[in-house]
Amino acid sequence: MLDGEQGKATQKAMEILVALGTIYNAERMVPVTSVQIAGVSYDNLGEAGLHFLTEMAQGGGRARVLTTLNPAGMDIENRQNLGISPEFAEKQIQVIEAFARMDVITNCTCTPYLTGNEPEFGDHIAWAESSAVCYANSVIGARSNREGGPSALAAALTGRTPAYGMHLEENRQPHISVEVQAQLIENDDFGALGRVIGEQLQSMEGVSVPYIMGVKGATLEQLKSFSASLATYGGTALFHMEDLTPEASHYEPQDRVIAVSKADLSTAKSEMTDGDIASADFVSLGCPHLSIKEIARIAELLEGKQVIKEFWITTGRPTKQIADQLGYTETIEASGAKFAADTCCVVAPIKGRFNALVTDSAKACYYASGKNQFKTIIKPFDEVVYAAIGEEQA
Ligand code: F3S
Repeated sequence: MLDGEQGKATQKAMEILVALGTIYNAERMVPVTSVQIAGVSYDNLGEAGLHFLTEMAQGGGRARVLTTLNPAGMDIENRQNLGISPEFAEKQIQVIEAFARMDVITNCTCTPYLTGNEPEFGDHIAWAESSAVCYANSVIGARSNREGGPSALAAALTGRTPAYGMHLEENRQPHISVEVQAQLIENDDFGALGRVIGEQLQSMEGVSVPYIMGVKGATLEQLKSFSASLATYGGTALFHMEDLTPEASHYEPQDRVIAVSKADLSTAKSEMTDGDIASADFVSLGCPHLSIKEIARIAELLEGKQVIKEFWITTGRPTKQIADQLGYTETIEASGAKFAADTCCVVAPIKGRFNALVTDSAKACYYASGKNQFKTIIKPFDEVVYAAIGEEQA
């Protein structure tokens, strides 16, 4: 591949991986079973990114393993409804077409594990979306570094990744124990916990893998919220949660312990709330992208109601299609809420378009404020829906 015998794009891809492996002292490459590529929104890629992708597609690059995409800058089938300009849409379609030419499956979602790209325990994979990487390493027990867009594409075109970081057993050991002394009920509790732990880890040198104790139980949806938040605020790619994640039993609690109290979670939530619901003009659920169970709950709450604020429901296209079949889409759209499949409230080009966002996601708060300059309000899942229909609490 490196000699160019398998085409220019494959050669370029292998050059990227060799350079990366050299920087991180990898001794070998490992085969990967799955790839997920981020940097799909034209809002992030720009002209230079589009040019790179077009060149790789023209150079004969073809994915050798199951490869899916992170959210794009718009709902591919519903852009007008979300107010996306035709100029942006044209560029975004060119990005998607370049990926399609490389045999990448153009489902755009940050929860690929909910829509068919689900690795198995112990699989080496190359994923780029930070929340999905944290989920895959921790909850599934697969092995992935946090890839960038180009290195994930390079892994897709070669079927390989350099063996360093999370691919090596020795780097998966916990560095610190975290004792959670609070009851966690809602997604936003898990998001707040991710923020508190993530910020603590950021302040400690060489400490990145926590062994978390005291969490009594967690749903898939709560673990996806937690993974997103921990990755956002701590740059963390792996956690172990006692009795809940598959590798936790391989390790003992660590001598060094930090505690997280109920008060810590309340403080984190108030730090993510600088707006008020009455003046908020944007509501979004689905960061990370929603499961069908979550969409079912939204449909139940919106049945016979009308929204009074712009309300985006973000999910992967295959999940949206299940919602269509089950009648949830009809109920949700009858309320005036909008599906935003393939995209999300962070990667869509909506900077400055709204005043304040109501969400249940700690990660969405971070980027809505930092990237899109919205005020934010974090609430439990159901209360976010009530905010959209103008009811404080049912
Ligand atoms: Fe996914 Fe967008 Fe959130 S990519 S994790 S919904 S910021």
